Amino acid sequence: MIGTPRVHHRSCDSTNARGRELAAGGAPHGTLVTADEQADGRGRQGRSWTAPARTALLMSLVLRDLGPARELLPLVAAVAVCEACEEAAPPVRCRIKWPNDVWIDGRKVAGILIEGRPAEGWTVLGIGLNVSTGAGDFPPELSATATSLRLAGDGSQIATEAMLRSVLDRLYERLDQPPAEVLTRWRERDALHGLVVRWNGGDGVAAGIDDSGALLVDAEGGCLRLDAGEVHLRTAGAPATQEAPGAPQRL
Ligand code: BTN
Repeated sequence: MIGTPRVHHRSCDSTNARGRELAAGGAPHGTLVTADEQADGRGRQGRSWTAPARTALLMSLVLRDLGPARELLPLVAAVAVCEACEEAAPPVRCRIKWPNDVWIDGRKVAGILIEGRPAEGWTVLGIGLNVSTGAGDFPPELSATATSLRLAGDGSQIATEAMLRSVLDRLYERLDQPPAEVLTRWRERDALHGLVVRWNGGDGVAAGIDDSGALLVDAEGGCLRLDAGEVHLRTAGAPATQEAPGAPQRL
């Protein structure tokens, strides 16, 4: 099982920071850290993550000795979060902006931050999922790009604790699955496919992911392979389904 032992903070700096500390101190596989509120929530690539108190699922999971599953963990986590959201708030349909931002209707509902010490055999999987955030609760800089399950669904309240259980169940199931299955599920939700993406080094049309989870891009001079750790996609675009088929959008 995953999710026990569990440490819950009413407020902490970052559940990932707490998770890392516990992992470095020998916490077992499956240890969970949650919080009602974070003072210093961290996002990918040095960004911060903010969420009004008690409106979001803020969780970090210590995972040990994942073996080959470690490589696809960013994709596994994104698929699990999508599935949990869709189950909790039908008829929402989630899509994934490579590598693991979860979107509903072109707005971000969840982000995933994976940190770790592979040499020491541990990884911390951090997930921030906007559950019951209202439209006026987001800071102004996020109001046009963020959403919550409540806003995207039928407006009914969803308990954060129920979302936690659902995310843990989906993760547990998906962590054990063959890579091919995870890749298929991720590809079904690829929000960038067919869109023009720009990164620190060029631009091109997103053409899916390879079997290691790297983004493939058709660019001048051929097909490129971009690694999530190295590439910063400067902007994000609308899901491909909102575009005319075959008409890539410059972001
Ligand atoms: C991103 O989209 O940039 C990743 C955001 C990850 C946020 C979560 S909230 C729980 C956990 N603790 C953190 O400090 N960050 C992750």
